[in-house]
Amino acid sequence: MSENARLINGEQEIEFPLIIGSEQEVGLDISKLRAQTGMITLDEGFVNTGSTRSAITFLNGEQGILRYCGYAIEDIADKCDFIESAYLLLNGELPNSEQLSEFRSAIISEMDIPEGLINIITSFPKDAHPMAVLSAAVNALSTYYQDQVDPLDCGQVKSSIRRLIATLPTIAAYSHRHATGQKLITPCPELGYVENFLRMMLADEDGNYEADPDFVDALNLLLIVHADHEQNCSTSTVRMVGSANTNVYASIAAGICALWGPLHGGANEACVNMLKQIAADDGDVEKYVDMAKDKASSFRLMGFGHRVYKNYDPRARIFKKACDELLEKLDTDDPLFLIAQKLERVALEDEYFVARKLYPNVDFYSGVIYRAIGIPVEMFTVLFAMGRLPGWIAHWQEMHASPSKRICRPRQVYTGPNGRELPEISERS
Ligand code: SDX
Repeated sequence: MSENARLINGEQEIEFPLIIGSEQEVGLDISKLRAQTGMITLDEGFVNTGSTRSAITFLNGEQGILRYCGYAIEDIADKCDFIESAYLLLNGELPNSEQLSEFRSAIISEMDIPEGLINIITSFPKDAHPMAVLSAAVNALSTYYQDQVDPLDCGQVKSSIRRLIATLPTIAAYSHRHATGQKLITPCPELGYVENFLRMMLADEDGNYEADPDFVDALNLLLIVHADHEQNCSTSTVRMVGSANTNVYASIAAGICALWGPLHGGANEACVNMLKQIAADDGDVEKYVDMAKDKASSFRLMGFGHRVYKNYDPRARIFKKACDELLEKLDTDDPLFLIAQKLERVALEDEYFVARKLYPNVDFYSGVIYRAIGIPVEMFTVLFAMGRLPGWIAHWQEMHASPSKRICRPRQVYTGPNGRELPEISERS
């Protein structure tokens, strides 16, 4: 492959360098395009546009490959827990036992949140969506540590990162307990990260809750598999907001808002609600597959399709296996799991989905596992945010560490009215 690509524009012939990644992906470096041609590119939805170089996560959508820092997601899910995988994403290397022990105890020791923040969380309407509470609370958290919000001070950033990872489960659990009118259960330093979250979420009024090891394993798996996914909508939002030297709390709060969308992280909640709707409609999956194919309908199969994966999402494969195993251990069936499997079978045999390479994505089976653990559906996207937090932070850090860091400011092609005189109001129609 040559080192350059050539653009021929009328009489002009210009070469642009090719950037070859460590997995032999090729990027066309157009950073000089406008200066040399006066032209810009236009790529709605950034389908063909790379925003950065990154060494954090590699995915190959055609082959269904996903790796964090070079390690296959299947191996990380099998051998690590969430705090360990968070350390990997934040540092680029797996921790040794001493590093992991220090990181884990530092996180557990900081899971409490300020009293004032508790008042903010409990001031929301009980029916507020927990993603609204989460993004507001994360932004508000920074106001209790105003001497630690400088995005260019490494010590302050390190404290803020640990505080965010430590407190997100607490904020999430408190928003749920407030919404359900239950007493808040404070974190317990003797418990692990996931065990603490489950107890804060699901304990009785006296704080009694014995975490089922299978639930702890399942939640670790969910958090690990959600932890990063390169330049997705919410991670790109965190990078965009962070590029203005906005502090890490506000950058993460912006990412939470982006993730909330039903086309993105909100799809897990939307998928379970869709499965419930199908269940209530006599399990008529064919009807909903036909609706999804009907261009006159705005209905889409939630949890299906992906911008990058044109093969089975490896995360859906992991979760589908976990559903089977967990439901078998619990000796129970979830009618929604049965419907999801039937829906998958029907869709994957249908030419519409085959031609468009639409497969189950990360959100298709995750809800079945959340339900088995006892997580309410409105909290599903909040748990996606908890999992994605280390990935967001890793990309925010990488953006700041880049020698070519600059504020993100895309261009546009203007299509509005040309210059015109401004009429007096008496002359306007
Ligand atoms: C996540 O980017 C990431 O990495 C995201 C994520 C992560 O970890 O961060 O993986 C998490 O967001 C997963 C995706 C969750 N969203 C959903 O499950 C919502 C349902 N899916 C779709 O809305 C859609 O597939 C997207 C949003 C995921 C992708 O949208 P694209 O890439 O813009 O694809 P598109 O809308 O251009 O679709 C291409 C074609 C269209 O048909 P034609 O115009 O070619 O005839 O496929 C059709 C679409 O209508 N299509 C679907 C469909 N998804 C795409 N038709 C029916 N049901 C669907 N789910």
